[in-house]
Amino acid sequence: MKGVILAGGLGSRLYPLTRITNKHLLPLYNKPMIYYPLETLVHAGVTEIMVVTGGNNAGDFLRLLGNGRDFGLKQLHYAYQEREGGIAEALSLTEDFVGSDRCVLLLGDNIVEEDISAFVARFAEQPSGARILLKEMPERSHLVHLGVPVFEDGRIMRIEEKPAQPKSPYAVTGVYMYDADVFDIVRTLEPSLRGELEITDVNNEYIARRAMEYDVLTGYWGDAGESIDQYMAVNQYVAAHWNGIGHRETTSQGETSR
Ligand code: G1P
Repeated sequence: MKGVILAGGLGSRLYPLTRITNKHLLPLYNKPMIYYPLETLVHAGVTEIMVVTGGNNAGDFLRLLGNGRDFGLKQLHYAYQEREGGIAEALSLTEDFVGSDRCVLLLGDNIVEEDISAFVARFAEQPSGARILLKEMPERSHLVHLGVPVFEDGRIMRIEEKPAQPKSPYAVTGVYMYDADVFDIVRTLEPSLRGELEITDVNNEYIARRAMEYDVLTGYWGDAGESIDQYMAVNQYVAAHWNGIGHRETTSQGETSR
């Protein structure tokens, strides 16, 4: 199983913080944002990892992460995205690295507190296809910025990207697992209205093939790139509660604590 972390994009929703640096290098409490998805993958036993980045600050990732020794890795792989082509286009740059293997794709601004090992293991047991992780969002306001699944009889019928009227309370998180068919699927995509190859279109193709499975996260999940308010909220959560991947403590009130 290969790991891919996407850390490109302009981060325009966080301007002016991202005018002179890449969003994924911004601090989340005491560490750069990209440390968190890297830890999530390594904790799940995924150790062959490619970081896809772009823009003017790509060299800073090499200086920061090097060969990944701080994460217990022997080597880290890098790819450079030359234009703002979207998540699916960035994934296509990893085709030679992933080869005929499967991959776990993490968006570099997604903070996942839960240990995802069990979900990755379930995906490894799937004969083929894809697997996504969902998170129930009590606040509907987030869903209009995210991918939202539409269910029928417990099966996902389709995913709607940034829906004005979300049809379920679940967000599609930025944790995606794909078999090697994903690269052929990306080749069939047309750019969306925002001019990007959308990962939601990839997921909808797997759904159409009845080859999409899902799990629901119960631990904390945050998209630190959603907006400046979300960036601050994720910072506050991490500062107050973060104990490392899979080390969530539950108080008698059922709340998480350090
Ligand atoms: C992307 C996906 C969206 C998903 C989100 C998770 O949104 O398109 O479906 O819910 O990541 O972070 P974007 O960050 O490109 O707006």
